[in-house]
Amino acid sequence: MSTTTELQQTIIDMVDNTRGILAADESSPTIAKRFAAISVESTEENRRHYRSTLLSTPDLGQYISGVILFEETLDQKTSDGTPLAELARKQSIVPGIKVDKGKGPLPGAPGDSITYGLDGLAERLEGYKAQGARFAKWREVYSITATNPTQLGLDANAEMLARYAAVCQSTGIVPIVEPEVLMDGKHDIARCAVVTENVLHSVFHALHKHHVSLEHMILKPNMVLPGIDLRTADPEEVATETLKVIRRTVPAAVPSLNFLSGGQGPEEATRNLNAINQLRGSAPWQLSISYGRALQQPALHAWQGKTENDAAAQQALLNRARLNSLARQGKYESE
Ligand code: 13P
Repeated sequence: MSTTTELQQTIIDMVDNTRGILAADESSPTIAKRFAAISVESTEENRRHYRSTLLSTPDLGQYISGVILFEETLDQKTSDGTPLAELARKQSIVPGIKVDKGKGPLPGAPGDSITYGLDGLAERLEGYKAQGARFAKWREVYSITATNPTQLGLDANAEMLARYAAVCQSTGIVPIVEPEVLMDGKHDIARCAVVTENVLHSVFHALHKHHVSLEHMILKPNMVLPGIDLRTADPEEVATETLKVIRRTVPAAVPSLNFLSGGQGPEEATRNLNAINQLRGSAPWQLSISYGRALQQPALHAWQGKTENDAAAQQALLNRARLNSLARQGKYESE
C-alpha cells in the first residue's frame, strides 16, 4: 500500500459525522496528578488497569473513532493478554500515539515554550506502527500574557508542528496537529481570538512550506474562550468567536477539527461543542472532539481505583461519549 493510500484509509476510519477521539495519552506526571485527585497511586499496574477498563467499555466504538495512547500503553495488555491497541481496534477505534516529549522554555522568547522530540522521530514512528499505531499527536503550547506569544514563539512552534507532521506523513502515519492556546489568565475572549488566529495562521503557513498534505491530517485546536480567571462565556459567544477564527485560518482541505477540552468542565465542553455545531452553517470540516479531561473526569470519579467500580467507570465514559456525539451533530440538550 502506498503511504498516501494508507493515510487516506486512516482518515476514512477516523473521520465521520457522529464520532470523536478519546485522548488517553497523559504523560506519567499528568496521569499521576489525575490519579492523585481520586487518591490512587500511579503504578504501572493501576495505569494498565484503568486504561484497559476504558478501552473495553462495551459499544465505545459507537461514539469514539480514535484513541490517543501514551507510549507505555502501546506495550500493555489486558488481563487476558490482548494488547490494548488491539482491544481498541476490535471496537473499530483506531489506535494512535502521542509522540512529542513535552515542552520547555524557548530560549530568546521569554514566556514562550517549545516542544521536544523530533530527533529520531521517523524511527520511533516505524516502531509504533509495528505495534498498531496509525496516527500520532504532537502538542505545542502557547500562553497568553501581555507579551506572549511572541513572534518568535509563533514561528518556532509552527515550524516544529510542520516538521513533525511532514515526518509522520512520510511514514504513513496521520498527524494530529495540536497548537494549544492555554486558558490560564485574565484575558478576555477577544484577546484569545486574536492569539488563536495568529497561532493558526502561522501553523498553516508552516504546514504549507513543509508540503504537508492537508487532506491527510487532523487539527486539534483550542476553542476560543476567555481566560479562566476572568469568567465563563456563554456557549453562543464561544461558538461565534471560535467559528470566526477557524473560518479565517483553516483551509477547507482539512477533513476534521477535533477540539481539546483544555480545562473546561465536561458539561461545559459538551455545551460549547454543541453550540459550535448549531452555528456552523456551511463550515467545510467535521467539528468534533479529542477530549482528555472532559471525557475522562466522570469515569475517573466513578472508578476511584476500585475494580468493583470498573463497570460504573465504563458507563460514565460511554455516557459522556454519547453526549458529545450528540453535540458534534448539534443535537445535544442540556441534562
Ligand atoms: P484535554 O482535553 O484534557 O485538554 O486533553 C487533550 C489533550 O490531548 C491535550 O494534549
